[in-house]
Amino acid sequence: MATLGVNIDHVATVRQARRTVEPDPVWAAAAAELGGADAITVHLREDRRHIQDRDLEVLKETVQVKLNLESAITPAMTAIACRVRPDQVTLVPENRAEVTTEGGLDVVGQRLAVTTAVEQLHAAGIVVSLFIDPDPAQIEASADLGVVAIELHTGSYANASADADRDREMQALARAATLTRQAGLTLNAGHGLTYRNVVPVATLDGMHELNIGHSIVARAVFVGMTEAVREMKRLIG
Ligand code: PXP
Repeated sequence: MATLGVNIDHVATVRQARRTVEPDPVWAAAAAELGGADAITVHLREDRRHIQDRDLEVLKETVQVKLNLESAITPAMTAIACRVRPDQVTLVPENRAEVTTEGGLDVVGQRLAVTTAVEQLHAAGIVVSLFIDPDPAQIEASADLGVVAIELHTGSYANASADADRDREMQALARAATLTRQAGLTLNAGHGLTYRNVVPVATLDGMHELNIGHSIVARAVFVGMTEAVREMKRLIG
């Protein structure tokens, strides 16, 4: 049974639309925990477009389940992560113009920068996960760096509209899941997952953690965060 990390970034997106104090992602995290969230995930972006430094600090004090911070591989972000010490840091690529994270981290091409961040985070006692495309070379490079986990980018699967394309992307995820297990890495996945497309990913052999944000927050607008999380937990359990 896969565990659920609830990404609450878009609760902060609504707050930042008015630069006010509500809705508070800290309340969202508590409501998500009541619904059975196994982890709370936030992305403190360099442009601070949704989650703010204060959110991370308060969540570190209040979240009772695992706190997973998505972070770019910059010295400034690594320093914040090492100071706040979330339970897990998921290293992600970041590009200022993007609407959301667009692809996996290039662990092969950016080996030096990724290694530096991983070493500093490990020294601070933080579990590191690398957000990567379902590409054998990226999985191999991640295993070489000694991280505990990887998170497979499910965006291509989630965005595929034709059945044949979705099947092809699912096969790529299944092959990547097998390689991840064989490499002895914990298998996480996320991006673009919804109530409609999550089950095949959740049931991949060895799936440990799914990180899901937009779809849960969108449903929470109508049914409340606790119920939205409960419904997703029912699907993936
Ligand atoms: N995993 C990672 C690494 C992400 O960057 C994001 C988006 O912030 C998610 C999961 C969640 O994606 P979504 O909001 O599409 O569910």
